Amino acid sequence: MSQVDNSISNSVSSSVSRKDGRAKVTGTATYSAEFQIPGMVYGYLVTATVANGRIKSIDTSAAERERGVIKVFTHKNPPKVFKPANDFMNSKIYEARLPLSDDRIFYAGQIVGLVVADTFERARDAAHLIKVEYETQELMVDASKANYRPAPPFFGEDFTYEKSSTTAGDVTKALASAAVKVEATYTTPMELHAPMEPHATIVHWKTPDSVTIYEPTQWVLKSQKTYADLLGLPAERIHVINPYIGGAFGCKAFPWPHGILGATAAREIQRPLKVVVSRRQMTANTGHRSETEQSIRLGASKDGKLTAIIHEVKSATSGVETFTEPCTSVTPVMYATPNMRLKQDLAVMNVGTPTFMRAPGEAPGMWALESAMDELAWELKIDPVKLRLDNETREHQRKNLPYSAKNFAECLRLGSEQFAWEKRPMQTRALTRDGKLVGWGMAASTFPGYRGNTSAKVRLLPDGTAHVMTAANDMGTGAYTVIAITASETLKIPVDKIRVEIGDSTMPDGGMAGGSQMTASLTPAVKLACEEVLKKAESPTAEKAFDKLKQSGRAAFEATASSAPGEEKKKFAFQSWGAHFCEITVDEEIGRLQITRWVSVMNVGRVLNAKTAASQIRGAVIMGIGSALMEEGYLDLNTGNPVVYDLATYHFPAHADIPRIEVTFVGEPDTNFNPMGVRGVGEIGITGVAAAVANAVYHATGKRLRDLPITPDKLLVNNS
Ligand code: MOS
Repeated sequence: MSQVDNSISNSVSSSVSRKDGRAKVTGTATYSAEFQIPGMVYGYLVTATVANGRIKSIDTSAAERERGVIKVFTHKNPPKVFKPANDFMNSKIYEARLPLSDDRIFYAGQIVGLVVADTFERARDAAHLIKVEYETQELMVDASKANYRPAPPFFGEDFTYEKSSTTAGDVTKALASAAVKVEATYTTPMELHAPMEPHATIVHWKTPDSVTIYEPTQWVLKSQKTYADLLGLPAERIHVINPYIGGAFGCKAFPWPHGILGATAAREIQRPLKVVVSRRQMTANTGHRSETEQSIRLGASKDGKLTAIIHEVKSATSGVETFTEPCTSVTPVMYATPNMRLKQDLAVMNVGTPTFMRAPGEAPGMWALESAMDELAWELKIDPVKLRLDNETREHQRKNLPYSAKNFAECLRLGSEQFAWEKRPMQTRALTRDGKLVGWGMAASTFPGYRGNTSAKVRLLPDGTAHVMTAANDMGTGAYTVIAITASETLKIPVDKIRVEIGDSTMPDGGMAGGSQMTASLTPAVKLACEEVLKKAESPTAEKAFDKLKQSGRAAFEATASSAPGEEKKKFAFQSWGAHFCEITVDEEIGRLQITRWVSVMNVGRVLNAKTAASQIRGAVIMGIGSALMEEGYLDLNTGNPVVYDLATYHFPAHADIPRIEVTFVGEPDTNFNPMGVRGVGEIGITGVAAAVANAVYHATGKRLRDLPITPDKLLVNNS
């Protein structure tokens, strides 16, 4: 799948293979759990078997007597930890409650102890000898019965929002008087990030007050600051190392309880300590996407202009942290309407802490909105592409700012053309092939452009290479490669003459790989540092600078530069756009759905590397197909323990489930946003995917399915 069509657009500047590809496929890339430290000991997490209550007693004596056991930590002897600011600015942990801080149990699988032994097997064995008695209370893990309250503000923004035109009076009246209406409820289940690399932490105290932490983190310097807070040390005493991350999707941005416990326990025993979270433990202890229930009401005129949108959402959080799945964030972004009401409710349940997961809010939000738009198109007997074109908005309707660069219409038009959408009969059950029903569906994509503060250091060396150093990270996105491409294009030397080193907190702040912002945040700093180093060398080109180094015997020219967002945020809203088109077949006799064609057209500003950017979209489409058809985490309603807990029970797509995915980029560099013109490309691809599939299911079968995932039982003939 290396073919990328660059010819369509001037947004694509190159197509380069991954810098880290060889290390990854040959097994020489070192992931956090793989670092070898002499004298290392092993921690095994002991987790709660009940979902709500208190620990009445905990007996660790048998475990402590086992051969090789060094120490057992519980809430009765927790290692010393300091309360972090946990305000995002200074530090951030995923769970506000610190591990082992009291005897309370908030969810099944919560960490209640850590056994440290000289081998992993001995630690695990001893962990099973610990006897815990609980005083249990009634548990709540059933979202349909939970107690919902209005969700608190998220990053300073209120979820509740209402605007209405003066003529209508209010949104409810506007909806009541609409010529055509769609009112429907859409649900999504609990979803797991399920990265290939499990969570793991190695903590090595080198002196009583300096420590090296090997842990995957999407934000290296925030992790450093947060551990500094937790350990009561200045940030310079914390060295965070993570050159490779095996997938994260939002669950590896901040320290989780196992990391905090690992760091503090290692300090107490003064031995290098490794704590790996098992796949099963990850279900409760390292985040998930909350299930959601979304009510959407659309009102439109007979000619297909939206007159009202009401979007009301329910999601759940844990008892130890507040996280709302922000589904309504996309509603003011997509389609123009004079009347709009948004509301999000949140319930506290006995579940592990939900968190950011690839397109948090946008992914489930677009599932509901893009399904409802399809329903409206059928009601109006208008083509769904035309309905979207007719209701495009030129501005962000909550920020009241124009979009800096928007090529949504081009995504829809080009996607239609590539897919031959005009041949679609506007009738359900109209297409068949080999005895199966065929359906065509489409949906829009969107994701905001975010940008943060970053710095990078560049060194030119006498051997004719350049060395870029920044505390960024690459969780599979292609960050190594775009950093090299940026340096290569600024210094005008080949990509293979650029060495990139990231994932180390002693380097300048590379920013966060979250919100799809690393490329937009970091490449402007890399570009500036390259320009700066040429100035320092008083050379117009890197080649001239290399000559100077050789002649003078000097070791290097070096420069560091920083980049940050500025005034542009007051003038524009930055948003990326896209459209997905798909063909499916359904065999109603056995409920089998196959996806047979996929076309995605994306407008993300400039694309620095067509190859890895297209891979990002393909990966996101595959993850979206997983959410559409398979992915579903759920808990036993009687015990709160996960029924789905590993990569065998949590179903996700394999190669045979996925057709060729055609990806095309359109549009222009978005230089209003940053000097590189990039808006980022990680998350947008998943948005709209599930709706495109469900819309195709409706076209194929006439069944409107509003609850994900669309499993075979829902497709069987005579079962609706
Ligand atoms: Mo992403 S959910 O911002 O890692």
